[in-house]
Amino acid sequence: MSKPSVLITGASTGIGAVYAQRFAQRGNDLVLVARDKAKLAALAERLHQEYGVAVDILPADLTQSEDVATVETRLRDDAKIGILINNAGIAQSGGFTGQTAESIERLIALNVTALTRLANAVTPRFVQAGEGTIVNISSVVGLAPEFGMSVYGATKAYVLFLSQGLNVELAGKGVYVQAVLPAGTYTEIWDRAGIDIKTLPQMMEAGDLVDAALVGFDRRETVTIPPVQSASSWGSLEAARQGLIADINQAKVADRYQSA
Ligand SMILES: NC(=O)c1ccc[n+]([C@@H]2O[C@H](COP(=O)([O-])OP(=O)(O)OC[C@H]3O[C@@H](n4cnc5c(N)ncnc54)[C@H](OP(=O)(O)O)[C@@H]3O)[C@@H](O)[C@H]2O)c1
Repeated sequence: MSKPSVLITGASTGIGAVYAQRFAQRGNDLVLVARDKAKLAALAERLHQEYGVAVDILPADLTQSEDVATVETRLRDDAKIGILINNAGIAQSGGFTGQTAESIERLIALNVTALTRLANAVTPRFVQAGEGTIVNISSVVGLAPEFGMSVYGATKAYVLFLSQGLNVELAGKGVYVQAVLPAGTYTEIWDRAGIDIKTLPQMMEAGDLVDAALVGFDRRETVTIPPVQSASSWGSLEAARQGLIADINQAKVADRYQSA
């Protein structure tokens, strides 16, 4: 049986480029999406030469609705694509008061809207086929308002929630959804956001992050957090969340709110 093609957004550099190399090594054909056509073409040529896989490039600015539509069409029409790596994302420097309407709009357009639209475009075909995989790149920042990256963190909390929700909806239909939560990782994202990498504590190498994420992928984990050292930390949080859900009674106000 031939392996599925993998469409990777944000494949021109960083975590996305590592995913591209790792899947090429596994023998999967690729469709690479990002804005920088020259970088995509160079990577595609290198991976084709090195691993013999077919690599298409699909240049697109995923903050632009028409460009997202082009990628949606490819995801709907190309039946060979069986894995979507929703990786493209940007960060922001500074606090909330310093951010502008335009920078917030761009961040949400890429990290939230494009990611959701692409997952939505491919899902009906995956459900019809009874198989398919969506990997959504979130961040540990989405677990930690304390980090002070409120809008970025909110987009990543959205990505985690969306992935968990899609798992509930789609796992029974043969579709696997994985959320990957990196912590600080050496890529261009910091420089692009105007954050001096030298001011940050030591971070993870992108290759190590993706290799760990792929261990989770091969195990069909729904949430993979390579920097969390003890699996029980996440397990406890999940158990607490399930306890909270069990404690919700929509017909009755809790006793502590019955009087002033
Ligand atoms: N690095 C970290 O510390 C870290 C930690 C947690 C989560 N993450 C997440 O990991 C993902 C990958 O980040 P990274 O660290 O690898 O960042 P990166 O090195 O800056 O790469 C980002 C990728 O996204 C593409 N991209 C940016 N804007 C785009 C747009 N408007 N349309 C289409 N593609 C666009 C870039 O390519 P072009 O410029 O060619 O478009 C590039 O290929 C992101 O979702 C990020 O939030 C990263």
